[in-house]
Amino acid sequence: MSRISSSLVSALVAFDAASPDPLHRQLYSKLRNAILTGRISPGAQIPSSRDLARELGVARNTVLNAIEQLIAEGYLQGEQGSGTYVNRTLPDDTLHVPHLQASPAQRTRTCYPLSLRSKGLTTLSTLLPSAKQTKPFQPAVPAVDAFPFDLWAKLVQKQWRRHPRNLLGFGEPAGYLPLRSAIATYLTVARAVRCEAEQVIIVSGAQQALDLTSRLLIDPGDPVWIEEPGYPGVRATLLAAGAHLIPVPVDEEGLNIQDGVARSAQARLVYVTPSHQFPLGYTMTLARRLELLNWSQRARAWILEDDYDSEYRYTSRPIPALQGLAAQEQVIYVGTFSKVLFPSLRLGYLVVPSALVDVFSAARTVAAGQSPLIEQAVLAEFITEGHFGRHIRRMRTLYQERRAVLLDEAKRELTGLLGVQVSDAGLYVIGWLPQGIDDRSVAQLAAAEGVDTAPLSGFYRGSGKRSGLMLGFAAFSAPELRSGVRKLARALRAVK
Ligand SMILES: Cc1ncc(COP(=O)(O)O)c(C=O)c1O
Repeated sequence: MSRISSSLVSALVAFDAASPDPLHRQLYSKLRNAILTGRISPGAQIPSSRDLARELGVARNTVLNAIEQLIAEGYLQGEQGSGTYVNRTLPDDTLHVPHLQASPAQRTRTCYPLSLRSKGLTTLSTLLPSAKQTKPFQPAVPAVDAFPFDLWAKLVQKQWRRHPRNLLGFGEPAGYLPLRSAIATYLTVARAVRCEAEQVIIVSGAQQALDLTSRLLIDPGDPVWIEEPGYPGVRATLLAAGAHLIPVPVDEEGLNIQDGVARSAQARLVYVTPSHQFPLGYTMTLARRLELLNWSQRARAWILEDDYDSEYRYTSRPIPALQGLAAQEQVIYVGTFSKVLFPSLRLGYLVVPSALVDVFSAARTVAAGQSPLIEQAVLAEFITEGHFGRHIRRMRTLYQERRAVLLDEAKRELTGLLGVQVSDAGLYVIGWLPQGIDDRSVAQLAAAEGVDTAPLSGFYRGSGKRSGLMLGFAAFSAPELRSGVRKLARALRAVK
């Protein structure tokens, strides 16, 4: 076994008087570096601390400090009575993989076959809310700058200060029980949903709820009614499950049930947004709700109710959820905190019939285990302490003001160019374009002016497309909305 001399160590270690690091730290770094670069070989014995201290002209404690650190990290190994040695297996060896392959740039570019379904998914995903910069009139975003940041930070800090060991392991796949209870209470009071906490399954946003439901309830080839026009996110999850999609037209009363029955009387599932139809903004009438429930009972078809933004209703009382009206347990109810709090929270929920709790919990385990527990605990407290209710009330007032600004400005600038539909709910309004004008061309011209409008035709699957734009108002200040409307007016005049 080789033995390194004190003079070799001294040659390797030159202290830097100007360095902010103390001497023991400098010695530690130099020795570690010498070991890693092979200048001190594995297995070599290093001189005694007394000899090293003398050679380097430092206190013995300085040397002992550095050596202890190197032993603790696995670079050196102290052997009782015989000295200190460089470890034969260095800790860094077990952290890095040797690069045997060519660099990525030198690899041959190949692509093995994808599933047929993946092609549809790529197109649909471009229609979903994305990370692009927020600018008027992006429809799906809430006013995140009005979020109670300090309060949330306090609740997060409170959780960590409790040293929450129980929140750092794997939680229940169905979610953190206090949060499920808080949601069940909220839904019972605010949405007339009939449920127990056990029926609430926490998911990573409504999108995951749609995905789990599609996978669990649909077999390849099953007929499924979707709204026409409708939410592309559910089209994507249903397509991925192999569903046979049946677009059913929506009119001012909501989904047209007669039309659905005529197209496919035996659908396995129906997807609806009854409180605020996405994207047209209509509310499904009570008559249609009852008709849908009666038909689904006869056909033994599940109903997937997506209640994505029902908290926002401005002049009338909220419409109770369809789930609460059903005589049987055939409704899977979906909600999200993306619109009420902020989208990156990625927390949403399902309320499932009691008979499906176990299978949904199992599916939640398979799909990524569970949502982060600390965030769930913070949110549970946010709700039970009353902050959630207060936040919704504040946002409702703010959005009502912003909606009024948009409608006023549109009346002034867009009359004759765009027919803005005054709807009572949600975070956006619809602007109808005159017949024959292509909404995608208008959206392109508007984008060139610096505003972001979602063309309605993108949400249709079949023919009978109506031309219009979705105009989000919630996330934008009054000046931003006014200037946005003027930019949109310029784009619309250019197209006429
Ligand atoms: C109708 C509808 N459903 C579901 C979602 C998905 O919401 P989340 O962000 O919770 O996944 C959205 C998002 O915009 C939506 O508009």
